[in-house]
Amino acid sequence: MLNIVVMVSGGGTNLAAIIKAIEEKEIQNTNILAVISNNEGAYALERAKNAGIMALCISPKDFEFREMYNEALTNKIKELSPDLIVLAGCMVKIPESLVNSFKIINIHPALIPSFSGVGFYGLRVHEAALERGVKVTGATVHFVDNGVDTGPIILQKAVEVKEGDTPEILQRRVMEEAEWIILPKAINMIANGEI
Ligand code: GRF
Repeated sequence: MLNIVVMVSGGGTNLAAIIKAIEEKEIQNTNILAVISNNEGAYALERAKNAGIMALCISPKDFEFREMYNEALTNKIKELSPDLIVLAGCMVKIPESLVNSFKIINIHPALIPSFSGVGFYGLRVHEAALERGVKVTGATVHFVDNGVDTGPIILQKAVEVKEGDTPEILQRRVMEEAEWIILPKAINMIANGEI
């Protein structure tokens, strides 16, 4: 059994895709120990609670110094002791103490190395893709190292950019046609020893 902790910051549509994939057995041998958000208002936490999953908020705002937040987050995750940490729409920098102690994967809403690295997150990624005029974009699942979007790539899926796309329309298509497919697939691959 692969025990995972899912880290979220926002709406939680990637979390929802993981929960659905487990329910429908597209992901096998996997158990979500907890969902942790840095943002107490994240709807992803509601999704976790509705699915009967432990939902925790550990926010940098609750700590005077960042190091104290990093320590609290690291201690909680060591207490949970997951086999894998999944960053699913997670906007907070993961402390080195976690990167160096756990297997972590992340979903990025572009075809790394395009539109990735410092400053490329959320809607900004799709704005940059449209500004550049790419005809194809997509999403990437990668292992997390101490860089930003620089760890080894696991899966990628391409998505067509269409005439008249706005960043919001493109973001939605990339989520529907790529993110919600390859993140569950990567978890299942890890759960079944394929990577
Ligand atoms: C998604 O585009 C994800 O790739 C990015 O944040 C957006 C929202 O993710 N990191 P979610 O709906 O909170 O899963």
